[in-house]
Amino acid sequence: MEKFLWGSATAAYQCEGAWNVDGKGNSIWDDFCHSEANVKGITGDVSCDFYHHYKEDIRMMAECGQTTYRFSISWSRILPKEDHVVNEAGFKFYDDVLAECKKYNIVPNVTLVHYDLPDYIGNKGGWLYDKVADEFAYYASVVFKHFGDRIPLYVTINEPTHNASCAYLTGNYPPNEKNVNHYAKCIYNMVMCNAKAIREFRKLDLNAKIGLVHASCSADILVDSEEYRVAQRNCEWFINGCVLDPAIKGEFDKDFVLKVKESNIDLSFVNEDDLAIIKENTIDFLGQNAYCRNVVKPYTTGETKVTVNNSGKGPAREGKIIKGWFESDFNDSMKLNKWGREIYPKCIYNCLIRRKKAYGDIPIYITECGHGAYDVADENGYVEDDDRIAFLNDFIYWILKAKEEGCNVKGFYVWSTMDLYSWINGYEKRYGLVRVDYNDPELPRIPKKSYYWYKEFIKEHSL
Ligand code: BG6
Repeated sequence: MEKFLWGSATAAYQCEGAWNVDGKGNSIWDDFCHSEANVKGITGDVSCDFYHHYKEDIRMMAECGQTTYRFSISWSRILPKEDHVVNEAGFKFYDDVLAECKKYNIVPNVTLVHYDLPDYIGNKGGWLYDKVADEFAYYASVVFKHFGDRIPLYVTINEPTHNASCAYLTGNYPPNEKNVNHYAKCIYNMVMCNAKAIREFRKLDLNAKIGLVHASCSADILVDSEEYRVAQRNCEWFINGCVLDPAIKGEFDKDFVLKVKESNIDLSFVNEDDLAIIKENTIDFLGQNAYCRNVVKPYTTGETKVTVNNSGKGPAREGKIIKGWFESDFNDSMKLNKWGREIYPKCIYNCLIRRKKAYGDIPIYITECGHGAYDVADENGYVEDDDRIAFLNDFIYWILKAKEEGCNVKGFYVWSTMDLYSWINGYEKRYGLVRVDYNDPELPRIPKKSYYWYKEFIKEHSL
């Protein structure tokens, strides 16, 4: 029987550093972080420098007993310019990372784009660019042909809904807009990117699988009434169905499309040829990230607005008002993290049960699960991160319960392997199993208590 995979995850911009070496082009995150729009002035230029520390990081994964590693490829390292000329040094870096994984029998799970579009795509409109799906499919085919089945698990895009929401509703990720029509077009183009990349993947008949990583868990309500259930359904469409239905079932839900049209959201870009491509090119597995749930109630008033807490300084809650659809509700008795996010581990159980109901037995990997915190290190750099251990332990409890009840869960990844750049929040919000001492130019790695806890946990749970 196939073994359950236990591992951890990172993403290129957040950990690699080496932003301008060995022929790499700029990504929209390089441009954004170097611009005035980046008010905190913190960048991923160096971060924890995985580019030069990957051997050490992968060795530490292996010593922890991890059997899989999720990372992303920087599109700008592979195709730095719009002329489509491949940067061989980019391939070499990821060849080396894969060889290191192989040395320790660590299964690579590799994402093609984790937020960091190349600047030349960004300059043409980024996710809104009419040819973004063709460009993405081209890049994907170059990657598939080079790495082939050395990568058994490919992921097209990381968190389409979260990325689109931050970029086009909250406005905290580049291109920093607040525009519902652009949000809708972004989601549609990402769905097309996914389908067109899968079409390239199938042509090669690799001994590998392809999936998509999704952000949101589930929508919950605190009052059981018809009105609240409608708000819940609207939220499920908004945060889940809009991407998961086309990616898994090959089509958008008809009632969802009606609702979008009733809301006067521009859908003029939708065309029949695209819908046929979506129909033919669905994912093999779902990557589900697990952080928190959405608690919602019926929409009351106000324009569409999505807020997050990037300050980490207080109780400001994340929240959504989606005009005519739903708005956030708050259960004041719940525990929150410092960034105003509810800590509710059962959300992943509810999510998995609902995914099974909606999408049957599609294999699911929990591709990220983690606790952001201000870690405090002792004089040796050691962090006793008991809150993180409790968070992970509780989430895993609910994941394994869902698995026992028949959900087809096949693996789990802690976010993150080591400390790395947290989008907009910088370096003080930490998620790693391993501490990185950013004050020391050598960027030493020091395993945290959670690393040792995970090591024991994996030993005891070799499923
Ligand atoms: C996920 C992303 O949504 O959340 C990661 O895929 C990210 O890239 C993680 O780092 C935690 O979010 P943040 O903003 O706290 O770093």
